[in-house]
Amino acid sequence: MDIKKNVSGYRLGVKKPQGGRGVENAPEFSGWVEQVRNLNTAYTLETGKTKKIKMDIFGCQMNERDSETIAGMLTDMGFEEVSKDKPADIIIFVTCCVRENAEERIYGHIGALSGECEENGAFIVSCGCMMQQPHVVEKIKKSYHNVKIVFGTHNIHTFPELLYRYLTKKKRIFEVWEKEDKVVEELPIKRTEKHKAWVNIILGCNNFCSYCIVPYVRGRERSRNMNDILAEIEALAKDGCKEITLLGQNVNSYGNDLGEKDLFAKLLYAIEDIEGIERVRFMTSHPKDLSDELINAMKNCKKVCNHLHLPFQSGSTRILEKMNRRYTKEKYLSLVSKIKEAVPNIALTTDIIVGFPGETEEDFEDTLDVVKKVGFDAAYMFIYSPRKGTPAAKLEQDIPSEVISTRFRKLLELQTEIATELAKKTEGKTLEVLVDGPSKQNPEILSGRTRENRLVNFKADNVNKGDIVNVEIIRAGAFWLEGRGGNKLG
Ligand code: 5AD
Ligand code: SF4
Repeated sequence: MDIKKNVSGYRLGVKKPQGGRGVENAPEFSGWVEQVRNLNTAYTLETGKTKKIKMDIFGCQMNERDSETIAGMLTDMGFEEVSKDKPADIIIFVTCCVRENAEERIYGHIGALSGECEENGAFIVSCGCMMQQPHVVEKIKKSYHNVKIVFGTHNIHTFPELLYRYLTKKKRIFEVWEKEDKVVEELPIKRTEKHKAWVNIILGCNNFCSYCIVPYVRGRERSRNMNDILAEIEALAKDGCKEITLLGQNVNSYGNDLGEKDLFAKLLYAIEDIEGIERVRFMTSHPKDLSDELINAMKNCKKVCNHLHLPFQSGSTRILEKMNRRYTKEKYLSLVSKIKEAVPNIALTTDIIVGFPGETEEDFEDTLDVVKKVGFDAAYMFIYSPRKGTPAAKLEQDIPSEVISTRFRKLLELQTEIATELAKKTEGKTLEVLVDGPSKQNPEILSGRTRENRLVNFKADNVNKGDIVNVEIIRAGAFWLEGRGGNKLG
């Protein structure tokens, strides 16, 4: 089937959601925004000052994207955002609960800000994945009195209303919707960057990997309408955006809930036609849903970067079954061969969990084997963390923690060795880099990403954030490349 030919039905021009399943514009949203803005205007008239907010964001790209919506709402409500080291009137925590250490860090940060709240009369708003868990909300109610508003992942669009209620009545508000609602379109957004942007395409997850809390806190899969996504990307392109990353817990199942097959591949083809967009990335992909159509789209679409993040979690088929991942070690390896054949210069990255209950030395060897056979440019490695409410949390952890640490170290060493070897192959080559601006570590040099998503630090004259340049790689390590020169390409 020639997907591209079929795609014209999805082209741009329709601005509003089609009114199909699960889409709405928050009905009274702008009314609440205006009410809070009025309070802020009155405050400014009285004091000559503006109310300040600051945000502390934890977790994945979905949270980064949600934070841009929250920041957008706050700006529309008349607040001024300040950096984390400055005092603020409201401190917003966008939380994560994927592993226990994330939760511990968040409790620590909230506790540490108590002093600031007491001194300045500031208060804390806490939202995001962690707040979808009733035991967390109970703990916050009881022990963190400076947290005045709590909301969850399903009711972000109610934030202006909750804020208005708190500001006018001064009574703590805990409003976490248990179930996902419709996809809410056209909320305000304050993008962190101009030259690159996150674009949500699907919310929630239906996969229920046995260790994972995400389906419980982010709800079932809900795809955004393709016209809304394309309209958003077109507007971004007009505003100077060059790279977009399509986001979802499992982007490969985009469209399944709309009753459409291979809609994700169709979306990639449709984005090809948007002038100004030079690079398209997406994450995360689930191996069980990575279709031939998608692999073909990656091969055919010039804008789609030659990078794929494909978590394998464990190399052992036995453990994969316990994880409810629905593929085998062999299936994963054959998928990788297929992708490498279709896109020969593909860079692969992955997620790996070490120490899932019942993991034997032999199972772990299978994980090392996959790492050796595939050759990942980068791997995010995690020690298994039991999450309350997930099926795996009921399994007895029979592996001593020293054994898990030893395995983790061994995996880290192997992966670093392989990543270094792969990186060395870029030495002497000239690579296309999208410039992110001055490096965070050293503002004298520039930093950017290759199409493979490799970080490059380089020196060049007359090069600015958002430029696409050719950079010669002079030295390479596992985590970043060093380059020089920057011939502008775009
Ligand atoms: N313990 C450890 N790692 C986990 N991940 C998800 N849940 C857990 C857990 N309970 C990892 C997976 C996933 C990544 C985002 O986080 O590797 O791909
Ligand atoms: Fe969690 Fe699995 Fe869904 Fe990823 S695919 S969010 S690991 S349940």
